[in-house]
Amino acid sequence: MAQYTTHDFDVLVIGAGGAGLRAAIESAALGAKTAVVMKSLLGKAHTVMAEGGAAAALRNADDRDSWETHFRDTMKGGKQLNFFRMAELHAKEAPDRIRELEEWGAVFDRTPNGLINQRNFGGHTYPRLAHVGDRTGLEMIRTLQDKLVHMAAEIFMETTVTHLFKTSDKICGCLTYSRVTGEFHLFRAKAIVLATGGGGKAFAITSNSWEYSGDGQALAWRAGAELMDMEFIQFHPTGMVWPLSVRGTLVTEGVRGEGGVLLNKDGRRFMFDYIPEAFKNDVAATEKEAEQWVAEVAAGKLATVRRPPELLTRDVVARSIRAEVQAGRGSPHGGAFLDIATRRTAADIQRKLPSMYHQFKQLANVDITKEPMEVGPTCHYMMGGVKVQAENGMSTVSGLFAAGEVAAGLHGANRLGGNSLSDLLVFGRRAGWGAAEYAKTASAPSVNEAEVAKAIEENLASLSRKGGENPYAVHKDLQDMMQDNVGIVRTEDELKQALGALDELEKRVDNVSVEGARAYNPGWNLAMDLRSLIVISRAVTLAALERRESRGGHSRIDFPSYDKKYSKVNHVLYNQNGQMALRADALPEVSPELKPFVEEA
Ligand code: FUM
Repeated sequence: MAQYTTHDFDVLVIGAGGAGLRAAIESAALGAKTAVVMKSLLGKAHTVMAEGGAAAALRNADDRDSWETHFRDTMKGGKQLNFFRMAELHAKEAPDRIRELEEWGAVFDRTPNGLINQRNFGGHTYPRLAHVGDRTGLEMIRTLQDKLVHMAAEIFMETTVTHLFKTSDKICGCLTYSRVTGEFHLFRAKAIVLATGGGGKAFAITSNSWEYSGDGQALAWRAGAELMDMEFIQFHPTGMVWPLSVRGTLVTEGVRGEGGVLLNKDGRRFMFDYIPEAFKNDVAATEKEAEQWVAEVAAGKLATVRRPPELLTRDVVARSIRAEVQAGRGSPHGGAFLDIATRRTAADIQRKLPSMYHQFKQLANVDITKEPMEVGPTCHYMMGGVKVQAENGMSTVSGLFAAGEVAAGLHGANRLGGNSLSDLLVFGRRAGWGAAEYAKTASAPSVNEAEVAKAIEENLASLSRKGGENPYAVHKDLQDMMQDNVGIVRTEDELKQALGALDELEKRVDNVSVEGARAYNPGWNLAMDLRSLIVISRAVTLAALERRESRGGHSRIDFPSYDKKYSKVNHVLYNQNGQMALRADALPEVSPELKPFVEEA
């Protein structure tokens, strides 16, 4: 059997995006012996893809805002499938978490009177996104990273987790390998926090990079934890569509927040044609009203009219762009035009959206101060994930915690832009606290050696197999299949086909073979990631098949409306003797104090 090195910690955090870093900071601050392992390098995380800002009712740009309004907007955006307690904690605690980040050195953009500036985003009633130009996630990661490296936490980069272990039904550790050396490491830990982000790499067009293969969700499910709301996938309306090599790269919602408009190939501002009944009171009904809003916002005034329909929630905007393309009114490369050039001055654009300016200049040779961008939906975020307790982030397995995108509950059927950054601060902190508290009374972990040996054998299988499939070919087929059958719109037939295809793909994953040694071998690494991708793809498909309605990030052509039958139901995926099973759970009853806001939403 291959050798491995053993490490012992109280709390092990898997993932070093915002949620993982914030969890590790809290855990270390509480005196738990803490380590963070990450698949990539410190600082490289999908958190940086939340460019436009972090949502928190600071009331700096508009003092009509409040945590109650933020709560209501989040529930409305999530089509009321959110765990209300998570939405409540998030709305109440986000402002403190942002101010704390500032104390730790984050340099936010300022209002004229020196406060943290806030911008508009889809579904938020007031300008609520604390931001640093269009590099907010990056600044947040930089700040959290600086804070963490000054604390007593150990950091293991380029380290991927492949198996979790339990004793007496409690988490006791995990097996990892180093991408650099290919060597195996066993981490024994009293508590583990999953902060691995999402699994956008299951889809062909995505803003996610190679790390996002749904490892945390798959590890949790295999260990017996429950997954929830997996049918809800966020297709961000604006990804790059051209050139093909950068298709899917995110174009921040901040462009629309700063007044950018969506146009079809005939130059028509089509979002006015797609305002859902439930949002009619929230957005402008005419171009005149929308123009007034932009003028007021650009002049730094409080908006007195409703926001433009480009700032409807992401699910609505993404489907509208798709509908225009389907109707033959799309841009040359199958998207829509996003125009900021005619709405704001070149100086404003370069100051507020510097990354977008450089991104389009360098990748597409487009000057966004002069020409429109070509954009289309890109898989960006999973609303579903590990089912956790609101207060401390513990999953249904003792000692296993989750925070950030890997966890479910806060966002319901659709996440509002900017709520991810505040999510990972609020619930990263809570999970770090929960794990450190749990570790105080947990017994010293011991891991069964035979289980470790079996896990190592599984990991090495693709290297010793001869004449099997190429993992890259299997991955491409999986991505294309998921994009076609389980993408932005779905039907019963397609979902059934997808389940059949997943059975075949799973067999192919079990038959991949990889050349070369273990050090620096991305083909071998992908062979292991594919196992996670199959688990999450199956979870998404099963839950999507079961939800015979359209809601948020789940659209069924065969069931195009809301159905009351599903309005208070979360789909839970669990492990029944190694098979994925599904049940429908009733949502927790909203507390009486919050009921009025939910009813209003
Ligand atoms: O569009 C964006 O800047 C993305 C933000 C988010 O996903 O929260």
